[in-house]
Amino acid sequence: MQTRPGIVKEIRLSADGLPAAWIECPQPSRPQPGQYLLGWAAGDLDAALAAPLFPAELAVDGFLAAGIPSAWEPGTRLELRGPLGQGFDLPVTTRRLALGAVGGALDRLLPLIQPGLQQNMAITLYADQHPANLPSAVEIYPLAGLSEVLAWADLLALDLERRYVPLLRALLNVEGDGRLPCPVQALILTPLTCGGVADCGACAVAGRRHPLLACVDGPVFSLNELDW
Ligand code: FES
Repeated sequence: MQTRPGIVKEIRLSADGLPAAWIECPQPSRPQPGQYLLGWAAGDLDAALAAPLFPAELAVDGFLAAGIPSAWEPGTRLELRGPLGQGFDLPVTTRRLALGAVGGALDRLLPLIQPGLQQNMAITLYADQHPANLPSAVEIYPLAGLSEVLAWADLLALDLERRYVPLLRALLNVEGDGRLPCPVQALILTPLTCGGVADCGACAVAGRRHPLLACVDGPVFSLNELDW
């Protein structure tokens, strides 16, 4: 199990108001939007308690990870395993990108905004909160209007906990066979206990044909892969 070192440079609050660490790490450890690392304090023999670290912000030398262990502080040295899993796939042909924070979590969607704007995409965010410091080019709408964006977007990227998957039909106003007017990619948040090394099954998600593992098959799935 290969790990690389990282170091906590700063503690701050994320857009979701969670304690977040700016982690400096080697370039190969930098996760893409939607991917994660498993991280623990160097020398902590209980690496089974590794924290899943998703990027809420990215830079060339590191990333911001929200929801970190309370013991981490500036200077904490880390062991990092990953990047792990499948992240968001933002095709260069995308012109209209919609983001949906189902259940209120925005942090893991935010790293899509900068690359989207750099590729001249129009971006709309559907959320029940209005994060500070969002680029003014991003339009914000209440989550209840999410179904309306399906006719506009080239791609809808969602973030939701596994327990909210059964709510998607109503939220997207989709009936019958669940055919969608635009591609939808969903980051399904589950426990990521072993990151795929022990087949623990804690991250299982209902797939169309068989159960899928969010730790390796996801955590970002095309909605067409899922039984929703
Ligand atoms: S987290 Fe253990 S199999 Fe996915």
